[in-house]
Amino acid sequence: DYIKVFAPATVANVCCGFDVLGFALDQPGDEVWARKSDTPGVTISAIEGISGLSFNPEENVIGVVAQKIATALDVPFGIELQLRKGMPVGSGLGSSAASSAAAAYAVNELLGKPFTTEELVVFAMEGERVASGSAHADNVAPSLLGGFVLVRSYDPLDIVPLGVPVELYCTCVHPLVELKTSLARSILKKEVPMQKAIRQWGNLAALMAGLLKRDYNLISRSLHDEIFEPERAFLIPLFKQAKQAALDAGALGAGISGSGPSIFALSATEERAQQVKNAIEQVYASSGIELNTYVTQVP
Ligand code: HSE
Repeated sequence: DYIKVFAPATVANVCCGFDVLGFALDQPGDEVWARKSDTPGVTISAIEGISGLSFNPEENVIGVVAQKIATALDVPFGIELQLRKGMPVGSGLGSSAASSAAAAYAVNELLGKPFTTEELVVFAMEGERVASGSAHADNVAPSLLGGFVLVRSYDPLDIVPLGVPVELYCTCVHPLVELKTSLARSILKKEVPMQKAIRQWGNLAALMAGLLKRDYNLISRSLHDEIFEPERAFLIPLFKQAKQAALDAGALGAGISGSGPSIFALSATEERAQQVKNAIEQVYASSGIELNTYVTQVP
């Protein structure tokens, strides 16, 4: 009698789209199970696949998201949730976002779909606020809607789903060190020099055009971040070498996935994406750092 929902990992920022662009992978991801309960309020009865997460619904993102939805609708019964984590937290692959998105979708199903999937984005963002201190949507929106999603504006929230206009394969390499998004945000400079801003919005606009025109060359020329990546690179062991190895192996582009430590690279074919994976693994081979790697078509 549970509603069972899977929500996928996501790559946020995609180099030039800090806080405004992300895309969904098809794995890994998290599952949330939801059912009605006689116990009033929101309860979390099981967490599997990870240890150390809070069962307190005020502290766990799935509880926070469910409570926001329940409060908005004045739900007259209790909601019991279970969480099955398919990825570690602090990976840069939108782990808290996948849990938040799955919770929002599951609770909405349980309540008979009062909200559209797009309307669920604001609720899932509340999970991000608790997890990282900032309610960004660049992971939760693609986790809920799939494909590439652009956040044109936060106030008012204006979400632009782009789907996947062109065949792309993503290599994700997660060096197993935990990096909290809150830390990776706290170190960023608050001002952007004009020349860098101009290059960044040129690249972001060109990336959008490249996706929609299915122009791999333009996509490749656009996958740069001269603002945030240089400030964050030191947080990720061997990042520069790994990125260079990906580009040398023929990736269209590569960068930090979300706030890191995962590294992502996009390729035009699956074979290329595998070669990119091998090249990055080679960089870490003698480092003693363990890796989780994923190669998936951007679904
Ligand atoms: N855009 C956010 C950041 C995403 O880079 O801080 C975090 O996954």
